[in-house]
Amino acid sequence: MKRKDFITSLFAFIPLGTGFAGITFMGARFITPRKSEKLYRKIFAMNLDDIEVNESKPFFDLTGRELVLVRTGENDVRAISTTCTHLGCKVHWEADKNIFFCPCHNGVFSPEGAVIEGPPPRPLDTYRVQVEGKVVYLYSQIAES
Ligand code: FES
Repeated sequence: MKRKDFITSLFAFIPLGTGFAGITFMGARFITPRKSEKLYRKIFAMNLDDIEVNESKPFFDLTGRELVLVRTGENDVRAISTTCTHLGCKVHWEADKNIFFCPCHNGVFSPEGAVIEGPPPRPLDTYRVQVEGKVVYLYSQIAES
């Protein structure tokens, strides 16, 4: 093959190769699942003065999941799921011991939801909370996109 013919055929294949690469890329995007994003809505949870420091209040997120709001400081509120990460029993806040306790298999969690004792394999689910003045807001998941 002459050099001129080689260069001519090379330029003829560049658009073909580019088109093939584009089709391959689009095909790969079509068959691989999209990374889902969770969508949240900021909702009113309570007034800060509704509970004293170290007290808790039950609450439900927008999907109906039960959680508990714990006032851990003057302006600090935590929102933690009451569903145990072991087998799904209901945990409760024990203010005198400063722990979440699961009575099913004696699972013990810290005020932040971390596992302290027992069989739970991971921490309790937590929610983002925002305190604005005397009002407490919770970010509740509404959907995944
Ligand atoms: S279900 Fe909570 S410790 Fe087993």
